[in-house]
Amino acid sequence: MRILMIGDIVGGPGRRAIARLLPQARERERLDFVVANAENAAGGRGVTMAIAEELFAAGVDALTLGDHAWDQKEFIAQIGRDPRVLRPLNLPPGCPGEGCHTYTTPAGTVTVISLLGRAFMGGICDCPFRAADAALRSLPRSGPIVVEMHAEATSEKIALGWYLDGRVTAVVGTHTHVQTADETIRPKGAAYLSDLGMTGPRASVLGRDTDAVLRKFLTGLPQRFDVAEKDVWIEGAIVEADPATGRARSIRRVQWEDRA
Ligand SMILES: [Fe+2]
Ligand SMILES: [Fe+2]
Repeated sequence: MRILMIGDIVGGPGRRAIARLLPQARERERLDFVVANAENAAGGRGVTMAIAEELFAAGVDALTLGDHAWDQKEFIAQIGRDPRVLRPLNLPPGCPGEGCHTYTTPAGTVTVISLLGRAFMGGICDCPFRAADAALRSLPRSGPIVVEMHAEATSEKIALGWYLDGRVTAVVGTHTHVQTADETIRPKGAAYLSDLGMTGPRASVLGRDTDAVLRKFLTGLPQRFDVAEKDVWIEGAIVEADPATGRARSIRRVQWEDRA
């Protein structure tokens, strides 16, 4: 089973790149399942159900979120309606939506677990390690399981990769918007990558208008951080999983330029 995992989609430029490039990529790369982080898909802040539908229509099968999950307030009432949108599993009890779901594909089932890190993330969630333990205890022991760890600190993501090795197919990071080059297969068969990167404009600071971010750093005054527009890429990784054992056979980083 070939699973594409896509890094944080930022605003209209990121969404347009998905719409333009993903349909062909699905064919070319013989993808069975596509999961993408959409926490910045709505103008850089959160997501809406209408935007989620747009991404599903382009060939995304499931969406994950992160620390920006609730930036679009109307989405809080919408998320429970569609199991294709996940919020981090380890958000406090009482948050709507779910953080772990098993999907059916023509190539078999695949489970996605979305987690949020705690280091340098504002302390809004429970322990991601124990949340993963609890989720894995409740899952049937078959089919690939991919874990997205939305976190700032590489140490926390790397630690989770070791912790879940032997129990999941892949642990990949998101949130920093910068793709790392540390892809590997851990000894017990889990694919690992510290960050998938960003689907959005590279001529920016993490997807935002460079001038505004510079003004913020130079003056400390409040700024409006609009989404930048130029040099748009899709970034992520393709994990090939053995559907019987759930072990990863390979992980390959992808960076696809939207030349439109
Ligand atoms: Fe993000
Ligand atoms: Fe984030």
